[in-house]
Amino acid sequence: MIKTLIVFGTRPEAIKMAPLVKELKKDFHFDVKVCVTAQHRQMLDQVLEIFDIKPDYDLDIMKHNQSLFSITADVLLRFEKVLVKERPDIVLVHGDTTTTFASALASFYFKTKVGHVEAGLRTYNKYSPFPEEMNRKLTAALCDIHFAPTKRAKLNLMAEGVKEQTIFVTGNTVIDTLKFTVKDNYVFKEDSLNSIDFSKKIILLTAHRRENFGKPLKNIFEAVLKIANEFDDVVFVYPVHLNPNVRDVAHRILKDHPRIKLINPIDVDDMHNLIARSYLVLTDSGGLQEEAPSLGKPVVVLRNTTERPEAVLARTVVVAGTHKERIEKIVTKLLIDEEEYLQMARAVNPYGDGEASRRIKEALLYYFGESSKEPDGFHGSDMYV
Ligand code: UD1
Ligand code: UDP
Repeated sequence: MIKTLIVFGTRPEAIKMAPLVKELKKDFHFDVKVCVTAQHRQMLDQVLEIFDIKPDYDLDIMKHNQSLFSITADVLLRFEKVLVKERPDIVLVHGDTTTTFASALASFYFKTKVGHVEAGLRTYNKYSPFPEEMNRKLTAALCDIHFAPTKRAKLNLMAEGVKEQTIFVTGNTVIDTLKFTVKDNYVFKEDSLNSIDFSKKIILLTAHRRENFGKPLKNIFEAVLKIANEFDDVVFVYPVHLNPNVRDVAHRILKDHPRIKLINPIDVDDMHNLIARSYLVLTDSGGLQEEAPSLGKPVVVLRNTTERPEAVLARTVVVAGTHKERIEKIVTKLLIDEEEYLQMARAVNPYGDGEASRRIKEALLYYFGESSKEPDGFHGSDMYV
């Protein structure tokens, strides 16, 4: 059996690793253990519960308003003990968080092979997003096998000297998750969402990036306030991230507006069904840039860069940056110009077809010599390079 240790720590990693945990656990070739760093506590536990994942190890590292230094050091030291106990054949990490980088580094120190899910995303700007761009580059350098969601991501890795035979284009596992969560006639668990009038234009807002703390976040919230004041057929729904750097400003600027609903982070099935019923998504999130296009919703990205250019090329995502006037201008156009809106509101799937976990499993079997069949690649992104 292939001793596989899957490690993750934040909400988006859990959402995107959950279908892979399930896929590998179903297959007798794999002995699967799950380790959570709990870089996020409540937001991670929400996801574990929905997917009924009971971790074998919980490093429980989260501290209030934690620093990159403390996350890195705590993961490195605590994950070492798990490696010593488990001695896995392979560790699987996801994405670009500090959990990802620190656990890949620990695995390298222990001379254990590492596989990287969602490998190869790049902006080529080391401070945007910060620290994610460096986390994913450093992780790639430490990894032995790379699961690139798209062809673009594969080409990025090859340009950095990663050997082509170690890269598998699989699609993004988040699309596997979407297949599980989005339902017709869905009833929200967060009851306040059931009373929303979805005949209005619902704009879903999320924001949490470290490089947006301070002035950029203030700009974003002021633009939102102006739009909410101008359009009485618009309702903003904003599940506010638990980071105090976000929460405090969000509540200070946006609270008590009749058309801005500030709520706590919602479960991922609520979130996916909320996207499906929204008019538009405003976000600095990575994951939402993948989910919304596949549900036919335009996305306005509240950042200066994106590592997900495929949907920009497909013209369902526009990168707005964090200047107040530019955000107002782009959103206003999408609210009043139906043709512009409809051009962006087309379901495209450059990020996956729901088969990513299966392809990752097959790639692992092939890599460990348990199968002679290379997995079929995901080709839905080939035209967006
Ligand atoms: C982290 C990741 C980021 C990812 C994001 C997903 C790093 C450096 N950042 O950013 O790449 O996009 O997760 O959401 O890896 N908090 C809670 N409860 C929770 C989660 C967070 O109270 O369940 C609060 C804590 O005070 C914590 C703070 O938020 O210290 C920041 O959490 P942290 O993981 O450092 O940063 P994120 O902004 O969540
Ligand atoms: N999400 C969620 N509840 C929320 C906000 C986001 O389940 O209240 C989901 C969202 O659908 C996506 C993921 O969390 O799958 C994105 O997480 P986040 O924006 O925190 O991180 P990023 O993707 O930017 O790393």
